[in-house]
Amino acid sequence: MSERVLMITGASRGIGAATARAAAAAGYRLVLTARSADALSALVDELGPETALALPCDVTDYANLTEAVQHAEDRFGRLDAVFANAGTSLHTSFLGNGGAEPEQWRDMVLTNVYGAAITARAALPALTRTEGHLLLTGSNAGRGIRPGNLYSATKWAVTGMAQNIRAECVGTGVRVTLIQPGMVETEMTEDTQDVPKLNAEDIANAALYALQQPPTVDVNELIIRPTGQQR
Ligand SMILES: NC(=O)c1ccc[n+]([C@@H]2O[C@H](COP(=O)([O-])OP(=O)(O)OC[C@H]3O[C@@H](n4cnc5c(N)ncnc54)[C@H](OP(=O)(O)O)[C@@H]3O)[C@@H](O)[C@H]2O)c1
Repeated sequence: MSERVLMITGASRGIGAATARAAAAAGYRLVLTARSADALSALVDELGPETALALPCDVTDYANLTEAVQHAEDRFGRLDAVFANAGTSLHTSFLGNGGAEPEQWRDMVLTNVYGAAITARAALPALTRTEGHLLLTGSNAGRGIRPGNLYSATKWAVTGMAQNIRAECVGTGVRVTLIQPGMVETEMTEDTQDVPKLNAEDIANAALYALQQPPTVDVNELIIRPTGQQR
């Protein structure tokens, strides 16, 4: 059994919670973060307090993130992997044809871009000490054109960020993996009907695949679409 320590942002539900369950089954110790303290506590109860630690945290708050990393190292003695997975999405139109008002766009950009960036910044000193592994949740929408879709553009930013972080980490032993899901059945996609969707567990399996490679193998990108997704 591995006793490596994995911290997950956006662990309160969806892909993050599914990855926590899969990693716990594979023997990882877990540090679970998100804003919803009750959902994190319920997941710790399910996985067991020896296995998992809940640290409520907003990914747009750098002090919160650095405290979480410190707390994780204090509790488990090391941090081997961090999954920068927290994200949010909104419908947008640059022409103003419906969708969210521009003032609401700010939170999505901060969470998806700034949040992922400062999660990496907070975690990488600890990951350098363990020659660890940073995973980021991008999106299939961060590789293609989606008319009017700012969410897609935030995920393009994550695509570039993962590559730039990997380039800076050369020589440190740190590995960097960009997970790019297609449509997944979670709260984020509950208003999208009649299209094929993956389960959150399918993305958890992809994350575990990358995590469980030998230290000499750096899986840099994984695209996982449901069979039959249009684009
Ligand atoms: N579902 C899809 O089809 C799909 C496809 C491609 C990529 N993705 C990406 O996958 C990731 C996970 O999404 P999901 O589908 O699992 O959606 P979800 O079920 O809505 O989960 C989103 C998670 O992010 C957390 N979160 C959001 N804002 C946060 C903040 N400011 N600080 C801390 N945590 C925050 C949420 O927790 P709290 O609300 O408790 O803070 C929740 O745990 C996201 O990055 C998303 O963009 C999803």
